[in-house]
Amino acid sequence: MSEQSTSQTVVVTRRVPGEIKIPGVAVRTGTGDLPTREKTMAMVAGADVVVTMFSDCVDDAFLDAAGEGLKGVCNFAVGHDNIDLDACKRRSVIVTNTPDVVTEGTADMAWALILAVARRIVPADRYARSEAYPARGPLAMDELLGADLTGRTLLIVGAGRIGFATAMRSIGWGMRVLYVARSRHWDFELAPLAAERVSLDEGLERADVVSMHTPLTAQTHHLIDADGLARMKRGAILINTSRGPVIDEAALAAALRDGTIYGAGLDVYENEPTIHPDLIGLDNVVLLPHIGSAAKRYREMMTQMVTENASAILTGREPPNRIV
Ligand code: 8YV
Repeated sequence: MSEQSTSQTVVVTRRVPGEIKIPGVAVRTGTGDLPTREKTMAMVAGADVVVTMFSDCVDDAFLDAAGEGLKGVCNFAVGHDNIDLDACKRRSVIVTNTPDVVTEGTADMAWALILAVARRIVPADRYARSEAYPARGPLAMDELLGADLTGRTLLIVGAGRIGFATAMRSIGWGMRVLYVARSRHWDFELAPLAAERVSLDEGLERADVVSMHTPLTAQTHHLIDADGLARMKRGAILINTSRGPVIDEAALAAALRDGTIYGAGLDVYENEPTIHPDLIGLDNVVLLPHIGSAAKRYREMMTQMVTENASAILTGREPPNRIV
């Protein structure tokens, strides 16, 4: 970590792509390794602004560790369930996030998972690399058969920007789109999606692919549980690129093992970075290490966005992506 003598400090808890540069401000950046909680607490002491990752729990203890000079928390993510917004509000600490720039990357990743699960890409890759492939020759025509997507039904749970971008990509497969949301969303219902708003139960019963796009709140915790999984078609695929706890992971592992559903694709987990041990051994689930927004261009945009937010907070201007 490097520091120059100046009156204002931004602490970035972990390495990000590109550089956070604000004239006259010292920027201290962590390494690429996941810091321990203790290390993070020590790092943020005395900061004017902290740039946090989704893996940082910003609670009263964190805010105490930063100290009374803390003016803002700029989350390097659109999701902000890692931040106690009430605690920040009580202390007049401004909180910002990174909307929009993660939308396309996360929607791409949802589709990468849909296709990988449907067409069994991971077991197929493993087979192609194995000695069995050259030894046996081409597969028999009834081996590694996957699921088809054209004309099937896609359920989007959570009708925000990422849900919409994921739904838009289904046009290429001529899919019927259903969505679950607290209120009607005209962007979903008008052309070209012409989507139908349904209850969660109805959507789970009708969909061939279910893609989760809700923020994590008390209301969405375990939104998909054993009962919801039992409602799904046996041939259905469940995708989660939002937050792990919106799905009951133990119930999902059981459903995948028992063939209650066809497969799942997960970028997020209930207790990141720990993955339910039962999922690890299953072939009908594709597991990613939370890389939804991990395209170079989008991650660099996130860096730019947190820089603009931090800079505004430090100069007393309204930050463009303020949450509280
Ligand atoms: C991750 C995300 O935060 O924006 C979000 O809410 O989950 C992702 O963009 C990112 O991959 C790591 O910070």
